[in-house]
Amino acid sequence: MDTPPWSPDRYLTAYRFAAEAHRGQTVPGTDGLPYLMHLSLVCMEVMSALAVEPGDDPDLAIQCALLHDVIEDTDVTHEQVLASFGRAVADGVQALSKDPGLPKAERMADSLARIQAQPRAVWLVKLADRITNLAPPPASWSADKRARYRDEAGRILAALGGASAYLSARMQARIEAYAAHLAQL
Ligand code: NI
Repeated sequence: MDTPPWSPDRYLTAYRFAAEAHRGQTVPGTDGLPYLMHLSLVCMEVMSALAVEPGDDPDLAIQCALLHDVIEDTDVTHEQVLASFGRAVADGVQALSKDPGLPKAERMADSLARIQAQPRAVWLVKLADRITNLAPPPASWSADKRARYRDEAGRILAALGGASAYLSARMQARIEAYAAHLAQL
């Protein structure tokens, strides 16, 4: 019997860990849908890329996708991720987390540099995260903030797009749709 390219058991363990860590959190702008939806969509983008462009470590990519916000957005620490999932996953998730000790304007560039030092499986997660988040912005955002978000997406694509032609094309299309939406406002 063929085995799948990634481990269903590792997926289940990471999904369960993320579900508990993000319990009660919701996706901004969705009127209360569970945060797990964001994690599932990011993981789906990553799995799509792995299906069409095999070669990166699928278990590392999938676990990092499901866990990518646990350090930044919950009480979970790097040490806890390390104890449950090992060094590669813990370091990947840490790189995907902005450093709250830095000035806000420096956090994205710092995180991108740390992601670039990780295996490309981790790069896929950041691309997938921004593809998932590039929806029409909330009405409460200022024109300045909307434009900054678009420019930031361009910087992510420039820094990490080399990891996946498939995700790069999806991200480029999302950036163009976002820009077209802003032009209509
Ligand atoms: Ni995210």
